[in-house]
Amino acid sequence: MTIGTGCRQPYTTDSLFNISAMSYGAISKPAVRALSKGAAKAGCWVNTGEGGLSPWHLESDADLVFQIGTAKYGVRDAQGTLSDDKLREVAAHPQVRMFELKLSQGAKPGKGGLLPGKKVTDEIASIRGIPVHVDSVSPNRHPEINSVDDLLDSVSRIREVTGKPVGFKTVIGAWGWLDELCDTIRRRGIDSAPDFITIDSADGGTGAAPTSLMDYVGLPLGESLPLVIDKLDAHGLKERIKVIASGKLITPSGVAWALCVGADFVVSARGFMLALGCIQAMQCNRDTCPTGITTHNPRLQKGLNPEHKSERVANYLRNMVHEVGLIAHSCGVREPRELRRFHARLVLENGQSRPLSDIYGPDAAQRPAVRVAVH
Ligand SMILES: Cc1cc2nc3c(=O)[nH]c(=O)nc-3n(C[C@H](O)[C@H](O)[C@H](O)COP(=O)(O)O)c2cc1C
Repeated sequence: MTIGTGCRQPYTTDSLFNISAMSYGAISKPAVRALSKGAAKAGCWVNTGEGGLSPWHLESDADLVFQIGTAKYGVRDAQGTLSDDKLREVAAHPQVRMFELKLSQGAKPGKGGLLPGKKVTDEIASIRGIPVHVDSVSPNRHPEINSVDDLLDSVSRIREVTGKPVGFKTVIGAWGWLDELCDTIRRRGIDSAPDFITIDSADGGTGAAPTSLMDYVGLPLGESLPLVIDKLDAHGLKERIKVIASGKLITPSGVAWALCVGADFVVSARGFMLALGCIQAMQCNRDTCPTGITTHNPRLQKGLNPEHKSERVANYLRNMVHEVGLIAHSCGVREPRELRRFHARLVLENGQSRPLSDIYGPDAAQRPAVRVAVH
């Protein structure tokens, strides 16, 4: 599948399942090394997260998606605004295949972040482009984006400067603006469209987020994914704008469900953390992660051997792709992206199931096969 057909350097990949944004800083050096190496072995992309591009991402040959957060880490000037020169520098790495503007993430919609000065080591400061040992604030939004037109302007600017596909990541809350987005794309011309949209579920993960936001704010993927797909479809933009889905899609049935609904790609953060050996100790933000994934304590990091864990990452990916293919073939289609809504049923809490198409669209119910538990 090709993303950004109109770009100077479109991105073509056959990878269905990829590694979602996790910053170097939120996760450790051996974790980034293991993920990048595993991705290179099995063939998927790694999203850098908003913490910039580290040497550990570049060390293997994996395709990379460079994420631009609200602090513009890695592509900012001294005032913290987006720098065209820095964008060009990042885009010059052939491994960097796409750019993703992060508008929001499911675990903490509407919330910025603070990186305490003590965590801003020489290395982190140089990767992110910020002063050493000074608190660093990520605003809760991109200050220069105040409207749909501003968003499309930013997308066009980054695409023009880098020559590579550009999209944005968001969790859906109020959705009225999606019609405005599609209408504005139609008015400005199809070339103004983002090349992809990443939809993150309200119950997304993060190193640290307030429980009230994690638990109560934003739409879960079960609601937002069909909504976005249907809007793009209704405006004739589904072919042009690829949809990437994330949020607890860590088993073949979850991935197959997202494809049935209409996603083009699936990404996962926590699935790959489990592949790295995460035991859900829930200490991501305390620097005490016993498995070495989210700690910068060298003693704790010793338990995470990048070579060994990269094999686990590659195996997880290969098995996922194999199993989703198995489900697709069993449904009678040639490949997973031919799965449609009528192939899936939703399993309700009482154990009964309903065709996905009853809930998410007009397709006739035929050959339902993938069962997905809803909560
Ligand atoms: C340790 C960790 C760090 C993360 N860092 C980022 C980030 O920098 N940018 C971002 O957009 N999302 C970040 N996320 C969110 C994930 O990319 C993803 O959207 C979310 O966890 C849902 O996917 P999952 O259910 O497969 O984990 C992070 C998640 C985790 C667990």
